[in-house]
Amino acid sequence: MEQSDRPTAATNQTAIETPPLAAVEAIVDQVMATRHSIRAFLPKPVARADIEAILRVAATAPSGTNIQPWQVYVLTGTTKERLSRAIIEVASDPAQDALHEREYSYYPDQWLPPFIERRRKVGWDLYGLLGLTRDDKAGMAAQHARNYAFFDAPVGMMFTIRRELSRGSWLDYGMFLQNIMLAARARGLDTCPQAAFIQYHRIIREVVAWPDDEMLVCGMSLGYADLSQVENGLRTERAPLEQFTRFVD
Ligand SMILES: Cc1cc2nc3c(=O)[nH]c(=O)nc-3n(C[C@H](O)[C@H](O)[C@H](O)COP(=O)(O)O)c2cc1C
Repeated sequence: MEQSDRPTAATNQTAIETPPLAAVEAIVDQVMATRHSIRAFLPKPVARADIEAILRVAATAPSGTNIQPWQVYVLTGTTKERLSRAIIEVASDPAQDALHEREYSYYPDQWLPPFIERRRKVGWDLYGLLGLTRDDKAGMAAQHARNYAFFDAPVGMMFTIRRELSRGSWLDYGMFLQNIMLAARARGLDTCPQAAFIQYHRIIREVVAWPDDEMLVCGMSLGYADLSQVENGLRTERAPLEQFTRFVD
């Protein structure tokens, strides 16, 4: 091929109308900054076309050598309700609950600073908003169980990964998940990513019937936020830039 015949990066790009860069920056930043974990949803259904559009654009996430390690199961209606009932029944009975174990550790076995303090703060801030005191173990357990009802969201998603894949693919997976949350946000929808489901992967698999070689990464609630509920007022802090960045000149 002659040098001049080669397609260039410019000719390979689809021409798209883009708004001025400053406007794009403001919108992208706003979508990111207004994504919060939402823990009470309205009963308003989410259009199938919106779910598909969100997943389609989220799948433009990068992944090492483009292997795209994600697999999504979207649960709605009676299937979602059946799953919620099955998990809540087990989770509320200590004897049955003891028979269910996570397939991977999401959190470290040994907590250490500064992570333990941050974890405690978000927990107490949430319980504080809900008026739950430290000795109200039943109240806290009931709030935790709201996870399994997908916080009343009309859509629940389960994400699996082929178990043979390595840590790098889990890194890719996080990018896909964040893309889903941002694409949802851009459409006026909200989400809550949920590791709470991983303990009940066997129950979920009974409902969803994924193949043996897949394992559950996490779940996610998707829907319209019920802004009248106090728990949705939770705003979590972030450490300042100077604490997590060092410019090495
Ligand atoms: C992978 C993942 C799993 C999570 N699992 C849960 C969960 O099971 N239940 C829950 O209420 N929140 C869960 N969260 C939400 C975190 O608590 C939340 O992201 C964090 O406190 C920061 O708050 P923000 O999402 O509102 O910015 C999870 C977040 C991530 C990224």
